[in-house]
Amino acid sequence: MKFFVDTADVDAIRELHDLGMVDGVTTNPSLIMKSGRDIKEVTKEICEMIPGPVSAETVALDAEGMIAEGRELAKIADNIAIKVPLTWAGLQACKVLTGEGRMVNVTLCFSANQALLAAKAGATFISPFVGRLDDINIDGMDLIAEIRQIYDNYDFSTEILTASIRSANHMKEAALIGADVATAPPNVIKSMASHVLTDKGLDAFMADWAKTGQSIV
Ligand code: E4P
Repeated sequence: MKFFVDTADVDAIRELHDLGMVDGVTTNPSLIMKSGRDIKEVTKEICEMIPGPVSAETVALDAEGMIAEGRELAKIADNIAIKVPLTWAGLQACKVLTGEGRMVNVTLCFSANQALLAAKAGATFISPFVGRLDDINIDGMDLIAEIRQIYDNYDFSTEILTASIRSANHMKEAALIGADVATAPPNVIKSMASHVLTDKGLDAFMADWAKTGQSIV
């Protein structure tokens, strides 16, 4: 499973990238707002650091506007994936932009039928939001499993990009189901390294080591 980082925080992306943990990046209008940076400037900086797909989201609500914004965002770098919402207009924009050879990430997906339409429209990535479904007491991971089955039934090449990930457990479940990609905030990716028994074991080893009076270097 590929790891994308869901942030526009350049320092946080770099820290994970230095460890080889970043296959791509996703941003959205809220994350750009949080960064306090200009969208084109910060996206260019991210694209220069990360060779994989970097999603930049359009904000128009009509297809023509999304297409114009998508073409503008695509000028930033070759690895831009244009993000459009899963609306009828977004699907129209997806069809046109992928027809021009650009990567398109169709976002704000909350149902298997929406994902089916995105695949038919040629989406490069579909972004089902698991955390926001969990928030309304619908199991987000059930949706990932449904989309996996549908895409496999018909050999769709659209990649399932599990989004709105809130926990390390979401990462594990996405991987078990066979999602192609998971995008998560940096702190969630880092939290995957934590285990209470690792901490406990390390404490015990350190205590015993101190009793030996030895040093390695
Ligand atoms: C995906 O591309 C979105 O940017 C993101 O995963 C949304 O996550 P949230 O529901 O935590 O805002």
